[in-house]
Amino acid sequence: MIEPNTALPASDKPALYAALLEQAEALFKGEHDSIANAANLSALIWHALPDLNWAGVYRFDGHELVLGPFQGKPACVRIAMGKGVCGTAAVKRQTIVVPDVHRFEGHIACDSASNSEIVIPLLKGDTLHGVLDLDSPSFNRFDDEDRKGLEALARCWVKAIIQP
Ligand code: SME
Repeated sequence: MIEPNTALPASDKPALYAALLEQAEALFKGEHDSIANAANLSALIWHALPDLNWAGVYRFDGHELVLGPFQGKPACVRIAMGKGVCGTAAVKRQTIVVPDVHRFEGHIACDSASNSEIVIPLLKGDTLHGVLDLDSPSFNRFDDEDRKGLEALARCWVKAIIQP
């Protein structure tokens, strides 16, 4: 079993995300259960990335986003498409980086500690499976290196799913 957070180079983001991707690939190898893999993805991210107060997945049930595996405080369970940062990223099918959540109209505050956020849609081809959501107590926590690294992790999770 892979030990999370083993001497990952937090100051060198590309190296950190490369190491995380390798760990995610190993964790998902031969495992196609999307919930189990989302649980491991959340735990991996939570223990490796500094300065987070929430990391997890919302699943798309064909109608709305429903809370999936996560690390952090309990969160709102259902998010309508187009609502909040998560619902907006899901509808737009693109990553949204929010440097200051208080300036994002419609932001859903699950944890008052959150000040910045990144949401990555989980897409297999044209099919939306959900979103990966990370929150930070720091403003401007997520940059383009984070976006690239987390999008690669999202692709890795999606690749492991067997399309129903
Ligand atoms: N802030 C999100 C809601 C989910 S929590 O951050 C866990 C949003 O605006 O969609």
